[in-house]
Amino acid sequence: MKYNLFEAGQQGCTRLITMGGAFSNHIAAVAAAGLLFGVDTVGYIRGEAAYPLNPTLQGAIDNGMELRFVSREAYGQLREKGLQPERPGDYPIPEGGTNALAMPGCRELGEELLTQLDDPGHSTIAVACGTGGTMAGLVTGLQGLPCLGIPVLKGGFMTTTVQGYHGLFTGRQWPHWQTIDGFHFGGYAKTTPELFSFMANFYTQTGIPLDKVYTGKMFYAIFQLIQSGYFAPGSTIVSIHSGGLQGN
Ligand SMILES: Cc1ncc(COP(=O)(O)O)c(C=O)c1O
Repeated sequence: MKYNLFEAGQQGCTRLITMGGAFSNHIAAVAAAGLLFGVDTVGYIRGEAAYPLNPTLQGAIDNGMELRFVSREAYGQLREKGLQPERPGDYPIPEGGTNALAMPGCRELGEELLTQLDDPGHSTIAVACGTGGTMAGLVTGLQGLPCLGIPVLKGGFMTTTVQGYHGLFTGRQWPHWQTIDGFHFGGYAKTTPELFSFMANFYTQTGIPLDKVYTGKMFYAIFQLIQSGYFAPGSTIVSIHSGGLQGN
């Protein structure tokens, strides 16, 4: 959101409008940013409200966001048309936060990582993919370091999606990245006992909590890929823990 927030500030905007599902970490993040930077926030939420609200939505309200629950059909229309300003001072941010201004922010994540690696030549950066925007931007900051994306949705479209963002937002294609499907556990936000047991073991061994929608699936995939010999011996695997813990 970094450069979207700069832009909103430069335009003198006083309200951020965005949209997401009931478990959207992006909704949580926009609400938190609104509180931090002293601007109002509105979130269109897909589907009927179910009370008590889950921690993501309740947290958004606690951070001052106005939630507007809309039917799946209406949500689909909003997505298709794109969010529009509703009054002067409104700054719309698309679902998941992925737009042209998201790219430089995620590129900086890659650039910052590069400065921290002892042995970049033998490193792979791993990231969970939802919209694919984070990975698309990240790859542009990695100077050719391999990047591995784990899609948390089924459908097998992530490679095309990331290529699409690269074309649309950076005007070129970027090398040395790959997405690997097959670790969605049935689809977006779907879980299995095996996933929960992996997350629990991971926490016991490392003290690091994972979320069930994104990072749990990514770390599970990494461990499977290590076992199957995907990574060369001696590799450093840098896994981006992108958050989402309030959803747990
Ligand atoms: C915790 C977390 N990790 C990773 C992602 C993936 O980001 P992107 O949608 O940019 O692919 C998301 C997206 O919402 C997320 O909430």
